[in-house]
Amino acid sequence: MTNDRWPAGFLWGSATAAAQIEGAAHEDGKEDSIWDAFARVPNAIAGGDTPETAVDHYHRMPQDVALMRDLGLQSYRFSTSWARVKPGDRAVNRAGLDFYSRLVDELLGAGILPWLTLYHWDLPQALEERGGWTNRDTAYRFRDYALAVHDALGDRVTHWTTFNEPLCSSLIGYAGGEHAPGRTEARAGLAALHHQHLAHGLAVRALREASGGARGPAGSPLRLGITLNLTTAVPNDPADPVDLDAARRIDGLWNRMFLEPLLLGAYPDDVLEDVREHRFEEFVHDGDLEVIAQPIDFLGVNHYHDDNVSGHPLPADAPAGLQPTDRPKASPFPGSEFVTFPSRGRPTTAMGWEVNPDGLRDLLVRLSREYPSLPPLYITENGSAYDDVVDDDGRIRDIEREAYLREHVAAVQEAISQGADVRGYFVWSLLDNFEWAWGYAKRFGIVHVDYESQRRTVKDSGAAYARLIAAARTTE
Ligand code: NOJ
Repeated sequence: MTNDRWPAGFLWGSATAAAQIEGAAHEDGKEDSIWDAFARVPNAIAGGDTPETAVDHYHRMPQDVALMRDLGLQSYRFSTSWARVKPGDRAVNRAGLDFYSRLVDELLGAGILPWLTLYHWDLPQALEERGGWTNRDTAYRFRDYALAVHDALGDRVTHWTTFNEPLCSSLIGYAGGEHAPGRTEARAGLAALHHQHLAHGLAVRALREASGGARGPAGSPLRLGITLNLTTAVPNDPADPVDLDAARRIDGLWNRMFLEPLLLGAYPDDVLEDVREHRFEEFVHDGDLEVIAQPIDFLGVNHYHDDNVSGHPLPADAPAGLQPTDRPKASPFPGSEFVTFPSRGRPTTAMGWEVNPDGLRDLLVRLSREYPSLPPLYITENGSAYDDVVDDDGRIRDIEREAYLREHVAAVQEAISQGADVRGYFVWSLLDNFEWAWGYAKRFGIVHVDYESQRRTVKDSGAAYARLIAAARTTE
């Protein structure tokens, strides 16, 4: 796809998450996560789908790792399931940890760097029943879980991500209701947001101590970070103060409410003002921000699309946004409930997300310019869903996904040439999988999964990605 030069050591990988691929939802001691429970709520998930079997990765792991090796992946980003490792958040479940231990060995044996995420949205349901992320104590339970995983894998796994997209697992899960646990209270979403930040800081501190205390490449065996879903919020009309304010709010709640406590040790004043009626500051105890702002070694960036933002209602004839189900939901965005996202008329993916690779470039360049304390960046997710067709010859000619991939990789390269310190790229996703509230209706994989037979077939985009990696590595 591209023969241009990449920085030495640039890491090429692909990503998945436990609840989306493993299946074996109740095997070897695993208990319900909030997604297992949510899948039983009528109309919560499109088609009544559940993560019970997913793509059966739990039983097909060696074959899936062989696939990664054949594609030439240098790293594999996966998550551990808290409900498998510490069912109900009780004692450690050896059988659950053993699965991840075997996975790590298999990866290392194939020459693939394991990149572990501790929380990709699947809280043990037993903890949800005690308030979930609205309960401050859950942050301390997360630290204990992180230490349990580290005890088992810390001798072999160097790259650790605490949270994946905390915006989604706090605001969309607790305020918007589209994700598990399906709560629709703005204040609960904000409580979850702060407690997940606290959990991140507690875990970073504990893992740092458990691994000898030193930080960074020279001293510590661990590289610790977090993955955020960040956006470029574009005002629909840059001359309209109402649109400008709407874009500020979205940038504030989606980007700065995460970046600033983590990197600067403070929440942004303007967002605190936007959400004043929810008394957010009551969740923030003395000393919390110091814990949250523990130094990190990398920042993971997930990016799928930028956002065209307006403060005006959409025209009456605007197409309705895609919804997985018509179950009642609320706005996940406290203080920004009135904000709209008008179409710019660009092509969209099957998720209805507008394709604009420049948005990714602009985001990376802006982060690098605006945050002097920014650690190295990794694109920990980028990818696209399309309605794939398996041709009569068995091939999946997913030319749109291939183009999306090529254009976004080029955008990353442009950002690097403009000064962004980006060290790796993980395509989402290795395999078609359980796309949360959309169930199996949306396919993001570079490898197709036949959900009846569980047969894997590399799509044309997967073959193209393998060629891209091979070409990029020869030009490092
Ligand atoms: C981000 C999430 O981390 C991942 O789990 C999800 O499947 C993709 N976005 C696509 O929606």
